[in-house]
Amino acid sequence: MSFPWAKNYEPQQPLMKWLDEKLPLPRLVYNAVGAGYPVPRNLNYFWNFGVLAGAALAIQIITGIVLAMHYAANAGVAFDSVEHIMRDVNAGWFIRYAHMNGASMFFIVVYLHIFRGLYYGSYKAPREMVWLLGVVIFLLMMATAFMGYVLPWGQMSFWGAQVITGFFSAIPVVGEPIRVWLLGGFAPDNAALNRFFSLHYLLPFVIAGVVVLHIWALHIPGSSNPTGIEVKDEQDTVPFHPYYTAKDGFGLGVFLILFVALTFFSPNLLGHADNYIPANPLSTPAHIVPEWYFWPFYAILRAFTFNFLWIDAKLWGVIAMFASIALLFFLPWLDSSPVKSSKYRPLYRIFFWVLVADVFLLGLCGKMPAEQPWVILSQIGAAYYFAHFLIILPIVSRIERPLPMPNSITEAVLAKHAGTSSASATA
Ligand code: HEM
Repeated sequence: MSFPWAKNYEPQQPLMKWLDEKLPLPRLVYNAVGAGYPVPRNLNYFWNFGVLAGAALAIQIITGIVLAMHYAANAGVAFDSVEHIMRDVNAGWFIRYAHMNGASMFFIVVYLHIFRGLYYGSYKAPREMVWLLGVVIFLLMMATAFMGYVLPWGQMSFWGAQVITGFFSAIPVVGEPIRVWLLGGFAPDNAALNRFFSLHYLLPFVIAGVVVLHIWALHIPGSSNPTGIEVKDEQDTVPFHPYYTAKDGFGLGVFLILFVALTFFSPNLLGHADNYIPANPLSTPAHIVPEWYFWPFYAILRAFTFNFLWIDAKLWGVIAMFASIALLFFLPWLDSSPVKSSKYRPLYRIFFWVLVADVFLLGLCGKMPAEQPWVILSQIGAAYYFAHFLIILPIVSRIERPLPMPNSITEAVLAKHAGTSSASATA
Protein backbone atom coordinates (compact mmCIF):
# COMPACT_ATOMS: atom_id res chain seq x y z
CA MET A 1 0.00 0.00 0.00
CA SER A 2 1.48 3.35 -0.88
CA PHE A 3 0.60 6.65 0.68
CA PRO A 4 2.81 9.12 -1.20
CA TRP A 5 2.11 12.04 1.13
CA ALA A 6 3.18 10.00 4.15
CA LYS A 7 6.76 9.69 2.90
CA ASN A 8 7.30 13.06 1.38
CA TYR A 9 7.85 15.28 4.37
CA GLU A 10 9.80 18.25 3.09
CA PRO A 11 10.29 21.07 5.61
CA GLN A 12 9.62 24.40 3.89
CA GLN A 13 10.82 27.06 6.30
CA PRO A 14 14.52 27.28 7.28
CA LEU A 15 13.65 26.98 10.99
CA MET A 16 11.69 23.76 10.37
CA LYS A 17 14.52 22.44 8.20
CA TRP A 18 17.03 23.11 10.97
CA LEU A 19 14.78 21.58 13.65
CA ASP A 20 13.99 18.52 11.51
CA GLU A 21 17.72 17.83 11.10
CA LYS A 22 18.53 18.16 14.80
CA LEU A 23 15.36 16.68 16.29
CA PRO A 24 12.81 15.34 13.77
CA LEU A 25 9.83 16.56 15.80
CA PRO A 26 8.09 18.28 12.85
CA ARG A 27 8.35 14.98 10.94
CA LEU A 28 6.85 13.11 13.88
CA VAL A 29 3.90 15.51 14.12
CA TYR A 30 3.43 15.43 10.33
CA ASN A 31 3.30 11.64 10.33
CA ALA A 32 1.24 11.28 13.52
CA VAL A 33 -1.48 13.93 13.27
CA GLY A 34 -0.63 15.82 10.13
CA ALA A 35 -1.00 15.49 6.39
CA GLY A 36 1.27 12.42 6.49
CA TYR A 37 -1.15 10.23 8.42
CA PRO A 38 -3.69 8.44 6.22
CA VAL A 39 -7.06 7.91 7.89
CA PRO A 40 -10.19 6.10 6.58
CA ARG A 41 -12.31 8.59 4.67
CA ASN A 42 -15.59 7.53 6.30
CA LEU A 43 -15.05 8.18 10.03
CA ASN A 44 -18.18 9.53 11.73
CA TYR A 45 -18.42 11.81 14.78
CA PHE A 46 -17.96 8.87 17.16
CA TRP A 47 -14.29 8.92 16.14
CA ASN A 48 -14.00 12.37 17.77
CA PHE A 49 -14.10 11.05 21.29
CA GLY A 50 -10.46 9.91 21.49
CA VAL A 51 -9.23 13.43 20.77
CA LEU A 52 -11.84 14.85 23.17
CA ALA A 53 -10.62 12.48 25.90
CA GLY A 54 -7.09 13.84 25.28
CA ALA A 55 -8.43 17.40 25.59
CA ALA A 56 -10.25 16.52 28.83
CA LEU A 57 -7.06 14.99 30.26
CA ALA A 58 -5.12 18.16 29.40
CA ILE A 59 -7.79 20.34 31.07
CA GLN A 60 -7.67 18.16 34.21
CA ILE A 61 -3.88 18.36 34.42
CA ILE A 62 -3.74 22.15 33.91
CA THR A 63 -6.59 23.01 36.33
CA GLY A 64 -5.28 20.43 38.81
CA ILE A 65 -1.79 21.95 38.88
CA VAL A 66 -3.25 25.41 39.62
CA LEU A 67 -5.52 23.98 42.35
CA ALA A 68 -2.54 22.22 43.97
CA MET A 69 -0.84 25.63 44.36
CA HIS A 70 -3.58 26.64 46.84
CA TYR A 71 -4.79 23.35 48.30
CA ALA A 72 -3.46 22.06 51.64
CA ALA A 73 -3.35 18.26 52.02
CA ASN A 74 -3.82 18.26 55.76
CA ALA A 75 -6.93 16.80 57.38
CA GLY A 76 -7.14 19.82 59.72
CA VAL A 77 -7.32 22.43 56.94
CA ALA A 78 -8.09 20.62 53.65
CA PHE A 79 -11.79 21.54 53.70
CA ASP A 80 -11.04 25.17 54.54
CA SER A 81 -8.34 25.38 51.88
CA VAL A 82 -10.92 24.39 49.26
CA GLU A 83 -13.29 27.09 50.57
CA HIS A 84 -10.34 29.51 50.41
CA ILE A 85 -9.87 28.58 46.74
CA MET A 86 -13.58 29.17 46.12
CA ARG A 87 -13.77 32.54 47.89
CA ASP A 88 -10.34 34.22 48.04
CA VAL A 89 -8.16 32.98 45.17
CA ASN A 90 -8.58 35.00 41.97
CA ALA A 91 -10.82 32.94 39.66
CA GLY A 92 -10.35 30.07 42.10
CA TRP A 93 -14.05 29.17 41.92
CA PHE A 94 -13.70 28.84 38.16
CA ILE A 95 -10.61 26.65 38.31
CA ARG A 96 -12.20 24.39 40.92
CA TYR A 97 -15.55 24.09 39.14
CA ALA A 98 -13.73 23.45 35.85
CA HIS A 99 -11.72 20.64 37.51
CA MET A 100 -14.80 19.13 39.20
CA ASN A 101 -16.94 19.20 36.08
CA GLY A 102 -13.95 18.39 33.89
CA ALA A 103 -13.79 15.02 35.64
CA SER A 104 -17.44 14.36 34.73
CA MET A 105 -16.90 15.49 31.15
CA PHE A 106 -13.82 13.25 30.94
CA PHE A 107 -15.86 10.22 32.02
CA ILE A 108 -18.77 11.08 29.66
CA VAL A 109 -16.35 11.29 26.75
CA VAL A 110 -14.48 8.11 27.71
CA TYR A 111 -17.71 6.13 28.22
CA LEU A 112 -18.83 7.21 24.73
CA HIS A 113 -15.36 6.27 23.42
CA ILE A 114 -15.63 2.80 25.01
CA PHE A 115 -19.19 2.19 23.77
CA ARG A 116 -18.13 3.34 20.29
CA GLY A 117 -15.46 0.63 20.49
CA LEU A 118 -18.05 -1.95 21.57
CA TYR A 119 -20.50 -0.99 18.80
CA TYR A 120 -17.98 -0.92 15.97
CA GLY A 121 -15.83 -3.83 17.21
CA SER A 122 -12.75 -1.60 17.52
CA TYR A 123 -11.34 -4.00 20.15
CA LYS A 124 -10.85 -6.77 17.57
CA ALA A 125 -7.63 -7.75 15.80
CA PRO A 126 -5.46 -5.99 14.78
CA ARG A 127 -6.32 -3.37 17.48
CA GLU A 128 -6.36 -5.59 20.59
CA MET A 129 -3.38 -3.75 22.09
CA VAL A 130 -5.12 -0.38 21.60
CA TRP A 131 -8.11 -1.75 23.52
CA LEU A 132 -6.01 -3.37 26.30
CA LEU A 133 -4.13 -0.12 26.89
CA GLY A 134 -7.51 1.65 26.90
CA VAL A 135 -8.71 -0.61 29.74
CA VAL A 136 -5.50 0.20 31.67
CA ILE A 137 -6.23 3.91 31.16
CA PHE A 138 -9.79 3.39 32.39
CA LEU A 139 -8.58 1.68 35.58
CA LEU A 140 -6.09 4.48 36.21
CA MET A 141 -8.81 7.07 35.63
CA MET A 142 -11.05 5.39 38.20
CA ALA A 143 -8.25 5.30 40.79
CA THR A 144 -7.40 8.96 40.12
CA ALA A 145 -11.03 10.11 40.35
CA PHE A 146 -11.63 8.16 43.57
CA MET A 147 -8.60 9.73 45.25
CA GLY A 148 -9.47 13.20 43.94
CA TYR A 149 -12.92 13.02 45.50
CA VAL A 150 -11.35 12.42 48.92
CA LEU A 151 -9.27 15.62 48.80
CA PRO A 152 -11.94 18.27 49.70
CA TRP A 153 -12.38 16.28 52.93
CA GLY A 154 -16.15 16.71 53.03
CA GLN A 155 -18.58 14.14 54.41
CA MET A 156 -18.77 12.14 51.14
CA SER A 157 -14.99 12.32 50.75
CA PHE A 158 -14.42 10.82 54.16
CA TRP A 159 -17.19 8.22 54.12
CA GLY A 160 -16.52 7.25 50.50
CA ALA A 161 -12.90 6.55 51.45
CA GLN A 162 -14.09 4.65 54.52
CA VAL A 163 -16.52 2.45 52.55
CA ILE A 164 -14.24 1.71 49.60
CA THR A 165 -11.09 0.99 51.61
CA GLY A 166 -13.35 -0.99 54.01
CA PHE A 167 -13.96 -3.48 51.22
CA PHE A 168 -10.33 -4.59 51.42
CA SER A 169 -11.06 -5.99 54.86
CA ALA A 170 -13.39 -8.51 53.13
CA ILE A 171 -10.25 -10.35 51.92
CA PRO A 172 -9.63 -13.17 54.43
CA VAL A 173 -6.61 -12.96 56.79
CA VAL A 174 -4.58 -10.29 54.92
CA GLY A 175 -7.49 -7.92 54.15
CA GLU A 176 -7.48 -5.90 57.35
CA PRO A 177 -3.66 -5.43 57.49
CA ILE A 178 -3.77 -4.33 53.83
CA ARG A 179 -6.50 -1.79 54.59
CA VAL A 180 -4.57 -0.34 57.54
CA TRP A 181 -1.39 -0.27 55.44
CA LEU A 182 -3.15 1.53 52.56
CA LEU A 183 -4.73 4.11 54.84
CA GLY A 184 -1.71 4.53 57.09
CA GLY A 185 -4.06 4.20 60.06
CA PHE A 186 -7.24 2.52 61.26
CA ALA A 187 -9.52 5.03 59.54
CA PRO A 188 -9.04 7.68 56.81
CA ASP A 189 -7.05 10.55 58.31
CA ASN A 190 -4.05 12.75 57.63
CA ALA A 191 -1.79 9.93 56.36
CA ALA A 192 -4.48 8.70 53.94
CA LEU A 193 -5.21 12.24 52.73
CA ASN A 194 -1.52 12.89 52.06
CA ARG A 195 -0.91 9.72 50.11
CA PHE A 196 -4.14 10.15 48.14
CA PHE A 197 -3.07 13.68 47.21
CA SER A 198 0.38 12.50 46.16
CA LEU A 199 -1.08 9.73 43.98
CA HIS A 200 -3.83 11.96 42.63
CA TYR A 201 -1.12 14.32 41.37
CA LEU A 202 1.03 11.52 39.96
CA LEU A 203 -1.51 9.28 38.19
CA PRO A 204 -2.68 11.74 35.49
CA PHE A 205 0.90 11.82 34.20
CA VAL A 206 0.98 8.02 34.19
CA ILE A 207 -2.31 8.16 32.25
CA ALA A 208 -0.72 10.60 29.79
CA GLY A 209 2.16 8.10 29.31
CA VAL A 210 -0.25 5.23 28.66
CA VAL A 211 -2.20 7.46 26.22
CA VAL A 212 1.02 7.87 24.21
CA LEU A 213 1.33 4.06 24.04
CA HIS A 214 -2.40 3.81 23.18
CA ILE A 215 -2.00 6.13 20.20
CA TRP A 216 1.29 4.55 19.18
CA ALA A 217 -0.41 1.13 19.14
CA LEU A 218 -3.28 2.65 17.12
CA HIS A 219 -0.91 4.09 14.51
CA ILE A 220 0.41 0.64 13.62
CA PRO A 221 -2.82 -0.68 12.03
CA GLY A 222 -4.36 2.83 11.77
CA SER A 223 -7.93 3.70 12.77
CA SER A 224 -10.82 1.36 12.09
CA ASN A 225 -14.02 2.88 10.70
CA PRO A 226 -17.83 2.49 10.81
CA THR A 227 -17.84 -0.34 8.25
CA GLY A 228 -15.12 -2.28 10.08
CA ILE A 229 -13.54 -3.06 6.69
CA GLU A 230 -9.78 -2.49 6.71
CA VAL A 231 -8.19 0.10 4.40
CA LYS A 232 -7.35 -1.56 1.06
CA ASP A 233 -5.75 1.23 -0.92
CA GLU A 234 -5.01 4.92 -0.95
CA GLN A 235 -8.52 5.66 -2.24
CA ASP A 236 -10.00 4.53 1.07
CA THR A 237 -8.13 7.22 3.00
CA VAL A 238 -7.71 10.96 3.36
CA PRO A 239 -4.83 12.74 5.14
CA PHE A 240 -5.51 13.46 8.82
CA HIS A 241 -4.79 17.13 8.24
CA PRO A 242 -6.85 19.08 7.18
CA TYR A 243 -9.80 16.65 7.06
CA TYR A 244 -9.82 15.32 10.61
CA THR A 245 -8.13 18.28 12.28
CA ALA A 246 -11.19 20.23 11.03
CA LYS A 247 -13.68 17.57 12.11
CA ASP A 248 -12.02 17.13 15.53
CA GLY A 249 -11.82 20.92 15.87
CA PHE A 250 -15.58 21.15 15.38
CA GLY A 251 -16.14 18.36 17.94
CA LEU A 252 -13.85 20.17 20.38
CA GLY A 253 -15.92 23.35 19.97
CA VAL A 254 -19.15 21.50 20.82
CA PHE A 255 -17.45 19.78 23.77
CA LEU A 256 -16.21 23.11 25.15
CA ILE A 257 -19.65 24.73 24.81
CA LEU A 258 -21.25 21.92 26.85
CA PHE A 259 -18.37 21.98 29.33
CA VAL A 260 -18.57 25.73 30.03
CA ALA A 261 -22.39 25.59 30.13
CA LEU A 262 -22.15 22.99 32.91
CA THR A 263 -19.31 24.81 34.71
CA PHE A 264 -20.93 28.26 34.63
CA PHE A 265 -24.64 27.51 34.92
CA SER A 266 -24.91 24.33 36.97
CA PRO A 267 -21.54 23.57 38.55
CA ASN A 268 -22.96 21.43 41.38
CA LEU A 269 -25.46 19.50 39.29
CA LEU A 270 -23.39 16.32 39.23
CA GLY A 271 -21.95 16.64 42.76
CA HIS A 272 -23.39 15.73 46.15
CA ALA A 273 -24.53 18.43 48.60
CA ASP A 274 -23.11 16.52 51.60
CA ASN A 275 -19.59 17.17 50.38
CA TYR A 276 -20.04 20.80 51.43
CA ILE A 277 -20.22 19.56 55.05
CA PRO A 278 -16.74 19.07 56.63
CA ALA A 279 -15.73 15.45 57.22
CA ASN A 280 -17.00 14.17 60.54
CA PRO A 281 -15.95 10.66 61.58
CA LEU A 282 -18.65 10.67 64.28
CA SER A 283 -21.60 11.27 61.94
CA THR A 284 -22.34 8.77 59.17
CA PRO A 285 -24.42 10.21 56.29
CA ALA A 286 -27.78 8.46 55.80
CA HIS A 287 -26.84 7.45 52.28
CA ILE A 288 -23.22 7.13 51.12
CA VAL A 289 -23.03 7.39 47.37
CA PRO A 290 -20.03 7.79 45.03
CA GLU A 291 -19.78 10.10 42.02
CA TRP A 292 -22.18 9.25 39.12
CA TYR A 293 -19.49 7.62 36.97
CA PHE A 294 -18.99 4.90 39.58
CA TRP A 295 -22.69 4.07 40.05
CA PRO A 296 -22.87 0.99 37.76
CA PHE A 297 -19.82 -0.52 39.48
CA TYR A 298 -21.13 0.43 42.92
CA ALA A 299 -24.36 -1.41 42.08
CA ILE A 300 -22.37 -4.54 41.14
CA LEU A 301 -20.37 -4.20 44.38
CA ARG A 302 -23.57 -4.15 46.45
CA ALA A 303 -25.43 -6.78 44.40
CA PHE A 304 -24.22 -9.66 46.59
CA THR A 305 -26.38 -9.78 49.69
CA PHE A 306 -25.81 -13.41 50.71
CA ASN A 307 -22.79 -15.59 51.52
CA PHE A 308 -22.13 -18.16 48.81
CA LEU A 309 -19.69 -21.08 48.51
CA TRP A 310 -18.23 -20.29 51.96
CA ILE A 311 -17.28 -16.83 50.71
CA ASP A 312 -18.59 -13.74 52.44
CA ALA A 313 -21.15 -11.63 50.50
CA LYS A 314 -18.92 -8.56 50.92
CA LEU A 315 -15.95 -10.36 49.34
CA TRP A 316 -18.14 -11.56 46.43
CA GLY A 317 -19.11 -7.94 45.85
CA VAL A 318 -15.45 -6.87 45.68
CA ILE A 319 -14.57 -9.78 43.36
CA ALA A 320 -17.56 -9.02 41.10
CA MET A 321 -16.72 -5.32 40.88
CA PHE A 322 -13.10 -5.93 39.87
CA ALA A 323 -14.16 -8.77 37.56
CA SER A 324 -16.66 -6.50 35.78
CA ILE A 325 -13.73 -4.37 34.56
CA ALA A 326 -11.12 -7.15 34.32
CA LEU A 327 -13.28 -9.08 31.85
CA LEU A 328 -12.86 -6.21 29.39
CA PHE A 329 -9.25 -7.39 29.04
CA PHE A 330 -10.56 -10.65 27.52
CA LEU A 331 -13.13 -9.05 25.22
CA PRO A 332 -11.07 -9.33 22.00
CA TRP A 333 -11.06 -13.11 22.50
CA LEU A 334 -14.59 -13.54 23.86
CA ASP A 335 -16.05 -12.17 20.63
CA SER A 336 -14.78 -14.40 17.82
CA SER A 337 -16.90 -12.96 14.98
CA PRO A 338 -14.67 -11.91 12.04
CA VAL A 339 -17.09 -9.03 11.32
CA LYS A 340 -16.30 -5.93 13.37
CA SER A 341 -19.06 -3.38 12.89
CA SER A 342 -22.56 -3.81 14.36
CA LYS A 343 -23.80 -2.33 11.10
CA TYR A 344 -23.48 -5.80 9.62
CA ARG A 345 -24.24 -7.76 12.82
CA PRO A 346 -28.02 -7.57 13.38
CA LEU A 347 -28.10 -9.94 16.36
CA TYR A 348 -25.07 -8.46 18.13
CA ARG A 349 -26.55 -5.00 17.59
CA ILE A 350 -29.67 -5.93 19.58
CA PHE A 351 -27.56 -7.25 22.48
CA PHE A 352 -25.36 -4.16 22.34
CA TRP A 353 -28.39 -1.95 23.02
CA VAL A 354 -29.61 -4.29 25.77
CA LEU A 355 -26.17 -3.93 27.38
CA VAL A 356 -26.44 -0.13 27.19
CA ALA A 357 -29.86 -0.30 28.90
CA ASP A 358 -28.42 -2.69 31.49
CA VAL A 359 -25.55 -0.30 32.33
CA PHE A 360 -28.08 2.55 32.76
CA LEU A 361 -30.17 0.31 35.04
CA LEU A 362 -27.06 -0.55 37.08
CA GLY A 363 -26.23 3.16 37.25
CA LEU A 364 -29.65 3.94 38.67
CA CYS A 365 -29.35 1.09 41.19
CA GLY A 366 -25.93 2.42 42.28
CA LYS A 367 -27.41 5.86 42.90
CA MET A 368 -30.38 4.61 44.96
CA PRO A 369 -30.21 3.38 48.57
CA ALA A 370 -29.54 -0.35 49.09
CA GLU A 371 -33.19 -1.30 49.57
CA GLN A 372 -35.88 -2.99 47.47
CA PRO A 373 -36.59 -2.92 44.56
CA TRP A 374 -33.07 -1.60 43.83
CA VAL A 375 -31.32 -4.58 45.40
CA ILE A 376 -33.09 -7.16 43.24
CA LEU A 377 -32.74 -4.92 40.16
CA SER A 378 -29.00 -4.56 40.76
CA GLN A 379 -28.74 -8.36 41.09
CA ILE A 380 -30.55 -8.85 37.77
CA GLY A 381 -28.51 -6.08 36.15
CA ALA A 382 -25.20 -7.48 37.42
CA ALA A 383 -26.09 -11.03 36.34
CA TYR A 384 -27.00 -9.76 32.87
CA TYR A 385 -23.78 -7.74 32.61
CA PHE A 386 -21.65 -10.84 33.15
CA ALA A 387 -23.93 -12.99 30.98
CA HIS A 388 -23.52 -10.51 28.12
CA PHE A 389 -19.75 -10.86 28.01
CA LEU A 390 -19.27 -14.46 29.14
CA ILE A 391 -22.26 -16.26 27.57
CA ILE A 392 -24.19 -14.17 25.03
CA LEU A 393 -21.22 -12.68 23.18
CA PRO A 394 -19.32 -15.97 22.59
CA ILE A 395 -22.56 -17.68 21.42
CA VAL A 396 -23.76 -14.80 19.22
CA SER A 397 -20.37 -14.51 17.54
CA ARG A 398 -20.62 -18.20 16.56
CA ILE A 399 -24.25 -18.46 15.44
CA GLU A 400 -24.84 -15.05 13.89
CA ARG A 401 -25.13 -14.66 10.09
CA PRO A 402 -23.78 -11.22 9.23
CA LEU A 403 -25.37 -9.03 6.55
CA PRO A 404 -23.64 -8.77 3.14
CA MET A 405 -20.74 -6.33 3.32
CA PRO A 406 -19.28 -3.96 0.74
CA ASN A 407 -15.88 -4.88 -0.68
CA SER A 408 -14.17 -1.73 0.42
CA ILE A 409 -14.58 1.50 2.36
CA THR A 410 -14.80 3.43 -0.90
CA GLU A 411 -17.56 1.13 -2.16
CA ALA A 412 -19.52 1.69 1.08
CA VAL A 413 -19.07 5.47 0.85
CA LEU A 414 -20.08 5.61 -2.81
CA ALA A 415 -23.10 3.34 -2.23
CA LYS A 416 -24.26 5.63 0.59
CA HIS A 417 -23.68 8.69 -1.58
CA ALA A 418 -25.58 7.12 -4.50
CA GLY A 419 -28.47 6.38 -2.08
CA THR A 420 -28.57 10.01 -0.89
CA SER A 421 -28.39 11.55 -4.36
CA SER A 422 -31.16 9.28 -5.75
CA ALA A 423 -33.27 10.06 -2.64
CA SER A 424 -32.77 13.80 -3.10
CA ALA A 425 -33.52 13.44 -6.84
CA THR A 426 -36.84 11.76 -5.99
CA ALA A 427 -37.63 14.44 -3.40
C1 HEM B 1 -7.45 9.26 28.51
C2 HEM B 1 -8.25 8.44 27.89
C3 HEM B 1 -8.15 8.13 26.40
C4 HEM B 1 -7.60 8.87 25.40
C5 HEM B 1 -6.96 10.25 25.48
C6 HEM B 1 -7.76 8.10 24.18
C7 HEM B 1 -7.33 8.53 22.92
C8 HEM B 1 -7.63 7.89 21.73
C9 HEM B 1 -7.47 8.48 20.43
C10 HEM B 1 -6.94 9.89 20.14
C11 HEM B 1 -7.90 7.57 19.52
C12 HEM B 1 -7.99 7.77 18.00
C13 HEM B 1 -9.27 8.54 17.67
C14 HEM B 1 -10.53 7.75 17.95
O1 HEM B 1 -10.63 6.62 17.46
O2 HEM B 1 -11.41 8.25 18.70
C15 HEM B 1 -8.30 6.38 20.24
C16 HEM B 1 -8.74 5.20 19.67
C17 HEM B 1 -9.14 4.09 20.38
N1 HEM B 1 -9.30 4.00 21.75
FE1 HEM B 1 -8.84 5.43 23.10
N2 HEM B 1 -8.37 6.92 24.46
C18 HEM B 1 -8.64 6.89 25.81
C19 HEM B 1 -9.27 5.88 26.51
C20 HEM B 1 -9.68 4.68 25.95
C21 HEM B 1 -10.35 3.63 26.68
C22 HEM B 1 -10.72 3.70 28.15
C23 HEM B 1 -10.57 2.62 25.77
C24 HEM B 1 -11.20 1.27 26.00
C25 HEM B 1 -11.33 0.66 27.12
C26 HEM B 1 -10.05 3.03 24.49
C27 HEM B 1 -10.08 2.28 23.33
C28 HEM B 1 -9.75 2.74 22.06
C29 HEM B 1 -9.85 1.96 20.82
C30 HEM B 1 -10.27 0.49 20.70
C31 HEM B 1 -9.47 2.81 19.77
C32 HEM B 1 -9.39 2.46 18.28
C33 HEM B 1 -10.69 2.88 17.64
C34 HEM B 1 -10.78 2.55 16.17
O3 HEM B 1 -9.88 2.85 15.40
O4 HEM B 1 -11.84 2.01 15.80
N3 HEM B 1 -9.53 4.29 24.62
N4 HEM B 1 -8.15 6.62 21.59
